[in-house]
Amino acid sequence: MGEDDFLERLGRQAASVERMLGELLSDAPRSDETARPARLVAAMRHGVLNGGKRMRPALVIESAALLGGDAEAALRVAAALECVHCYSLIHDDLPAMDDDDMRRGQPTVHRKFDEATAILAGDGLLTYAFDILAAPETKLPPAVKMELVLALARAAGPGGMAGGQALDLEAERRALAEDEIVELQRMKTGALIRFGCEAGAILAGAAPEQRARLRRFGEIVGLAFQLRDDLLDLTADSATLGKAAGKDAGRGKKTLPSIHGIAWTRARLAGLIEEANALLAPHGEKAAMLAALADYVATRKN
Ligand code: IPE
Ligand code: IPE
Ligand code: MG
Ligand code: MG
Ligand code: MG
Repeated sequence: MGEDDFLERLGRQAASVERMLGELLSDAPRSDETARPARLVAAMRHGVLNGGKRMRPALVIESAALLGGDAEAALRVAAALECVHCYSLIHDDLPAMDDDDMRRGQPTVHRKFDEATAILAGDGLLTYAFDILAAPETKLPPAVKMELVLALARAAGPGGMAGGQALDLEAERRALAEDEIVELQRMKTGALIRFGCEAGAILAGAAPEQRARLRRFGEIVGLAFQLRDDLLDLTADSATLGKAAGKDAGRGKKTLPSIHGIAWTRARLAGLIEEANALLAPHGEKAAMLAALADYVATRKN
């Protein structure tokens, strides 16, 4: 798939995800809600509708499309995952964590609003993700929804993203061994990305071996993602990234690029792309977009 075609399709998908998130994050209360406070909704909207790449939603949408899943349901699952991702960014940027002022080229939520509102916006988004999955508008069999809820909870919780963030804090206090860094990455960002790929298979009701293949693909894309994030933190500037650069070294955090250098990291990324492609090979041309996404994750500039 050519780069122009890829970027065009990614842009179209991002626009539908954006539309869906905009509707979901309206300030009109839903049934069994009392009211949605304007300031909280504004903070949630700022944390979500501020120009993310929407790479995780694209993984859900494309994995589902590959295995014949319903596109409308995939869009809602994609939106749920993006809500968890955006919550993780809002909390990651808080003064008690990375203490960042800029995200996606704009002030972070606690900077634009205040710390307490940012904490609540994160809480709201995390909870809302499971609302989106369970809601009747998500037209999937109840058993499939249950599987998605469980898989997303496991990916986001103490043994997934939240646990990875805890290990990341530990990495500021003591130098982690290399295998500990890899484990941290698998949890901190790998788990949500892996969920994105596996979710496509779950909602499509795919056979166990296909689900396992997508899960493995997601693990590889997740590793490539964090490796690229750490490389960009080391080599790119804040204006390009839309967020502070050089944070890891500034906080005394060892990453694989800081241990092994830039050439090693590029070679490792190329190896991961090859592995990802090999997993998709049985699907042939149908998987071209997913393959291009893996490549994008490993080579992106921001
Ligand atoms: C950035 O994620 C933060 C990490 C999880 C390391 P992305 O690079 O996917 O950020 P957005 O969503 O496009 O802003
Ligand atoms: C953030 O990792 C990961 C999560 C939000 C789960 P980083 O702290 O490296 O992300 P950036 O670099 O701030 O985007
Ligand atoms: Mg962090
Ligand atoms: Mg951070
Ligand atoms: Mg980073």
